[in-house]
Amino acid sequence: MRIFSGIQPTGRKHLGNYIGAIRQYVEGQDRGDAVYCVVDLHATTVPYEPAELRRYVLDTTAMMLAAELDPDRCILFRQSDVREHTELCWLLCSVTAHGDLNRMHQFREKSARQRELISAGLFFYPVLQAADILAYRTDEVPVGDDQRQHIELTRDIAERFNERFGDTLKVPRHRIPEVGARIMDLQSPEQKMSTTAASEQGTIYVTDPEAAVVKKVKSAVTDSGAEVVRAPDKPGISNLIEVLAVVRGSDPGEIEDEFHGARYGDFKQAVAHEVIAYLAPVRERYDELRGDEDRLEAILRDGAEKARNIASEVLEDVRARMGVGSSP
Ligand code: TRP
Repeated sequence: MRIFSGIQPTGRKHLGNYIGAIRQYVEGQDRGDAVYCVVDLHATTVPYEPAELRRYVLDTTAMMLAAELDPDRCILFRQSDVREHTELCWLLCSVTAHGDLNRMHQFREKSARQRELISAGLFFYPVLQAADILAYRTDEVPVGDDQRQHIELTRDIAERFNERFGDTLKVPRHRIPEVGARIMDLQSPEQKMSTTAASEQGTIYVTDPEAAVVKKVKSAVTDSGAEVVRAPDKPGISNLIEVLAVVRGSDPGEIEDEFHGARYGDFKQAVAHEVIAYLAPVRERYDELRGDEDRLEAILRDGAEKARNIASEVLEDVRARMGVGSSP
């Protein structure tokens, strides 16, 4: 079974990314033939600094390795190193409905946020994502809940291609984690923890020093009640219960039992303590790996070569079916 996912090259990954996505990538190595791609081309669709983008790709690569992606057991590469992605993106445009792209939530949100240019790249973003996935005949795409619509579009594109040109592309399905799919912002617990929209104080980064984690958890917004239980009117406490359950690998109900009658302050202390212990080994490995840029580049280069072997074959098929290029 082929598993594929794309990872945004942001400078810092937070606890929500780690629990919601990164853990799933690691687990994917045991379940199938896993391919992971750091999507630097997607990152160019909004304003960015070229030198920063280079650094972010390496930051993200080091983070994935620190989380225990193993380059011997999966393919890890940089999107722009495998040119088949951009070619397939263009070819898939012919079977993508303009109206569908116009309806994408992420496009609508991101374009509303742009101050200057709303790039066409932002509009075509989901087609490039479809190309990423379809170039590897992917069965399963582990993603966060926010990517559901993009994966559905990918399926539509593959189906339309197959109808129009004959059975060529594999129609993938998504895989969204049930537990911990929604880690919320500590300051605004009705919002997901996120790199873009969130307050710095509400976001725990994997590389945060211990003192920062303590401070953030202690100042997490809670309600005026006093009980450590999950309830719709207690989004802050509910979130902390979920977080603790995930880092312990236990059940939120057990946490409620254990902290029955406890004070918020003591409960928060326990959460901070266990989040720190959970992230510490990742952070240590990260610091070590990030220092060796030559090694990171070598891993990406190796990965790209393996990825290209798969993608170029798919592209040959697609070109032949579409009547593009010299006859095969
Ligand atoms: N759009 C995804 C995100 O924002 C990143 C991504 C790019 C991706 N290409 C992909 C995810 C292919 C899964 C499969 O997280």
